[in-house]
Amino acid sequence: MITSQTSPQIPPKYLQEDDLSEECKKLLFILPKEKGWIGSCIYNYQGFWTSPRLIQGVIACQQQFQAQDSDIILVTTPKSGTTWLKALLFALINRLLHPIFEQNHPLLVKNPHDLVPFLELKLYVDGQVPNFSSFTSPRLFSTHLPYASLPKSVQDSRTKLVYLCRNPRDTFISMWHFSNSLRLHHLDTNSIEEMFDLFCKGVSLYGPFWNHILDYWKESIEKPDKVLFLMYEEIKEQPKIQLKRLAEFLECPFSIEEENCGVVDEILRLCSFENLSNLEVNTNGKLSTGEENKMFFRRGEVGDWKNYFSTKMSEKLNHIIEQKFQGSGLRFLYT
Ligand code: A3P
Repeated sequence: MITSQTSPQIPPKYLQEDDLSEECKKLLFILPKEKGWIGSCIYNYQGFWTSPRLIQGVIACQQQFQAQDSDIILVTTPKSGTTWLKALLFALINRLLHPIFEQNHPLLVKNPHDLVPFLELKLYVDGQVPNFSSFTSPRLFSTHLPYASLPKSVQDSRTKLVYLCRNPRDTFISMWHFSNSLRLHHLDTNSIEEMFDLFCKGVSLYGPFWNHILDYWKESIEKPDKVLFLMYEEIKEQPKIQLKRLAEFLECPFSIEEENCGVVDEILRLCSFENLSNLEVNTNGKLSTGEENKMFFRRGEVGDWKNYFSTKMSEKLNHIIEQKFQGSGLRFLYT
């Protein structure tokens, strides 16, 4: 059995299983449940799998969040490179406020997750009313919510959605490592075999993985001005092209002067795995939600799955992916 590292610590708020709202406790009695990736159990709420406390964050966010037309929301499947894209988006959108060559750029002293907060995981996790007074326009948020579970105001407004996914094999390996390193200390480490079977059954964080991707893929085709569909591997392969595509989608394209001054290259350098993962804040710091920043930087490569997958696992997942994505026009890159 291959094992992954565990580092017991106080769980972040969104994983704490006590002190839940009455509404949430009642729901837990009736929702389908399975073995948890991080906590003891994972529950199926509105068709996706999530941990108990997050359910109350989802409910509060759906009831209260009022999207503005100028908002930008990054939506990702967990472990698809959210941290990277948060950094890229923050640097891109704020390049007038925080010039990219500035010595004390916020990304040098804060982890991207503290600059671009999650809606259901952070801002609404306790059902609280967040204070948006410190947000500058355009407001930048992120979420892992499936399309159908987004707050209605997000779907109805002109809010732009940037969607990021990653090939299922690397996503799975990254999720297995991450969830074991966050796993609540009284629980055993999850084996790769057991979690792979759950992933294939669709039981993964915010999964089923394929439903999440296909719903946003469809929206991106039907509403190309609202949803931009990005893939981790494509950004790795053609970073400049993808960053410029992102800037155009967000209606803040790079000027010729900016390109000539190296702004595009500098954003990519600042947000690169090598640069971010070696910053003091990301080697020794913690998020305001409690996680160690270094947990969000592991290898940052395409193809790490090869170090873990057996032929049988590869074949099984291929078969599922073929079935699920057949006819969609979507293709994943694995190397
Ligand atoms: P690995 O576990 O494969 O290394 P998320 O940010 O959605 O939680 O995803 C985490 C994954 O993105 C991890 O993958 C992590 O190493 C990788 N990652 C983090 N920052 C990155 C960056 N700047 N460039 C590329 N990959 C990055």
